[in-house]
Amino acid sequence: MSINWFPGHMAKARRQIEESLKKVDVVIEILDARIPYASKNPMLDHVIGDKPRVVVLNKKDMANNKETDRWINRLKAEGVYPIALNGKEPNVLKKIENTVVEATKEIFERMERKGINPRAIRAMIVGIPNVGKSTIINNIAKRKVAKTGNTPGVTKAQQWIKAGTKMELLDTPGVLWPKFEDESIGQKLSLTGAIKDNVVNLDDIAIFALKFMQEHHLDALKQFYNINIDENTEIVEIFDAIGQSRGFKMSGNEIDYERVTERVIYDTRDAKIGRFTFDLAEGAE
Ligand code: G4P
Repeated sequence: MSINWFPGHMAKARRQIEESLKKVDVVIEILDARIPYASKNPMLDHVIGDKPRVVVLNKKDMANNKETDRWINRLKAEGVYPIALNGKEPNVLKKIENTVVEATKEIFERMERKGINPRAIRAMIVGIPNVGKSTIINNIAKRKVAKTGNTPGVTKAQQWIKAGTKMELLDTPGVLWPKFEDESIGQKLSLTGAIKDNVVNLDDIAIFALKFMQEHHLDALKQFYNINIDENTEIVEIFDAIGQSRGFKMSGNEIDYERVTERVIYDTRDAKIGRFTFDLAEGAE
């Protein structure tokens, strides 16, 4: 489901998330492990303040393992509690619980020293559309909680759900807007499915994907499409090679560039060509 984010939606989302934040001890921010920088909402840092934050690099099964490790180290150095997950796997609850306990240890120790009775750790999940928030909540809750859809902010009737023995989770995630100020960020968001294809130029997305693979994953690209190219091949020639190899032709034997474009986008998005991380931990701001 795509949202057109208008300023009013953004203000509402921010307000609702600020309200929910008052109820929780810890925030679980979900990012896409393939684009940990591009899938971050720019405003969240301001509203979270110094509340403990667990950062989930979700969809790790589609990202590059080495790059995910680098991101984990980088995020640790930034003072948050990172964890890489495949949100569909059965061990998600345990992993999140362990990290949430670690992130809130000091708060609960302080409460204990003051003689306050121990209670469950309260958490909420936030993130931009399509990073896997509902998948993770359903997985943790061991049931299908109401699909909120990707409506901005959070819906009003929130309930606590028991998550394991130590944690309670708000059953509706906070939905935040994606970054849209920069073209290359938009291309990464599109390439991973975080924003819909009708808001971007598909040719640009396919060109971006091909250039990225040509520079960083040439062998995977050559092998997957069975094409003979090198690091200096012009992009249009790569389109031609893929069209030839896949038999994407129009009448008159012309290459059907539209089909090549679509194929490249889908194959990259579904991690069929390889597991790529488009935001490198070194260099992303
Ligand atoms: P959202 O609430 O943040 O908007 O995201 P949601 O959970 O709806 O997940 C978006 C898509 O990402 C879903 O696929 C979901 O299955 C997939 N997904 C979530 N976590 C992971 C993960 O760790 N690895 C992989 N490979 N995929 C993940 P979909 O195609 O929209 O739906 P469906 O195929 O599940 O029906």
